[in-house]
Amino acid sequence: MNLRGVVLAGGTGSRLRPLTKVTNKHLLPVGHKPMIYYPIEKLIGMGIEEILIVTGVEHMGDVVGLLGSGREFGCRFTYKVQDEAGGIAQALGLAENFANRQPLAVILGDNIFQANLKAHAQRFLAQGSGARLLLKQVSDPHRFGVAEIRDGKVLGIEEKPAHPKSDYAIIGVYFYDAGVFDIIRTLQPSGRGELEITDVNNAYIRKGQLACDVLDGWWTDAGTFDSLVRASDCVIREPPQ
Ligand code: G1P
Repeated sequence: MNLRGVVLAGGTGSRLRPLTKVTNKHLLPVGHKPMIYYPIEKLIGMGIEEILIVTGVEHMGDVVGLLGSGREFGCRFTYKVQDEAGGIAQALGLAENFANRQPLAVILGDNIFQANLKAHAQRFLAQGSGARLLLKQVSDPHRFGVAEIRDGKVLGIEEKPAHPKSDYAIIGVYFYDAGVFDIIRTLQPSGRGELEITDVNNAYIRKGQLACDVLDGWWTDAGTFDSLVRASDCVIREPPQ
């Protein structure tokens, strides 16, 4: 398949200090494996063989030491350094040469979930262009990007809104065509000084090129103490497919 995979595993992991004082959040244990194994296995489960890992300079050595060439996983890894924690969209911008004009499946390295993504990938490829996002109903939408939905269509996305317009969180799984890099070049840093993936997705909405699906099964991020414990519970109770 010509879909290529990207795992974004940067950031400072500040919400998990001191666990992240000397290591990267994505190397912490979730169940029986390092956190980053789960997004990688989701990409491989879609039939993807070329995977880019983006992480910060501090822990790149440990990430490469853990993952290697990809031979043990049955894929090929490429690595890119994100010099500073400048946001998810900035990290994705580093994938342009790797993508080589092919469409991308992007997973945030702290998103852990049960379902296989193959059907979503097929629907995205059948679109021919644009972007496709996955949503999940949650009880704490203010922690995430939140979709405003009418008649099954996403009208807009707000990043961590105080007053969410729905309980549909944008989870950290995104499909993009090669146009994503032109959009990233137009972005300005947000209030928190980052290039926001939510701004990328709103640009696709303005072009009328954003589709979405609701993810089946359980889903959690793992970037806080509570969600890290929840992620471990979930993978042990009902292992990802
Ligand atoms: C990021 C995105 C947010 C998304 C979330 C999913 O937030 O900015 O839109 O809902 O990932 O995990 P973060 O948790 O990195 O601040």
